Amino acid sequence: MKLAVSIVFLSLALLSSLSYGEDLHSHETKKDISGIESLSPELRELLTKEMLALQNGMMSVIPAYVTGNWSEIENISHKMKNSYILKQSLTDEQVKELHTSLPESFIKLDQEFHYLSGMLNQAAKNKKPELVGFYFSKLSESCVSCHTQYAVHKFPALAPEKMTDMHEH
Ligand code: HEC
Repeated sequence: MKLAVSIVFLSLALLSSLSYGEDLHSHETKKDISGIESLSPELRELLTKEMLALQNGMMSVIPAYVTGNWSEIENISHKMKNSYILKQSLTDEQVKELHTSLPESFIKLDQEFHYLSGMLNQAAKNKKPELVGFYFSKLSESCVSCHTQYAVHKFPALAPEKMTDMHEH
């Protein structure tokens, strides 16, 4: 059942991910410090789809949040939590690949993200606007925090020396 939810959620992102397909191989020139760029193309493609699904999820939280649509946030955060790439959509072999290619701190950031989506889900379930706002903000921070460490090849503006003019959305 979790898997079904995940597939529905991922498929939401498929349309928007089409334009990124071409992009996947254009970043190999930079020196790989994060391990991300040494992942197999299949795994990287899954990661990209997952990221776009997460981004869609985050974007749909805003209108639900400002209109008090807690059940919608409950759904979205549930999907975000369950669809995350290290949790599923991967074969056993790909999980092994992720764990051997990526450092422990990536796994930790993933777990942090997973925890925060769960907390957002709880806040929505309890219909607590302040907590929904709080955990939405914490979630955005967790996106930025992982990208700062593992995706600067993709988002050079997040390279640590530029962190001073960064704002969360
Ligand atoms: C545990 C680490 C981690 C977390 C947490 C994380 N990301 Fe990412 N994200 C990455 C990595 C690594 C890449 C670059 C992937 C690549 O280069 O193939 C990426 C890329 C992306 C991309 C670009 C996808 C593309 O290639 O077009 C988007 C959009 C994105 N993330 C959104 C998010 C959002 C929104 C969140 C939070 C809700 C989030 N990410 C949380 C690691 C993470």
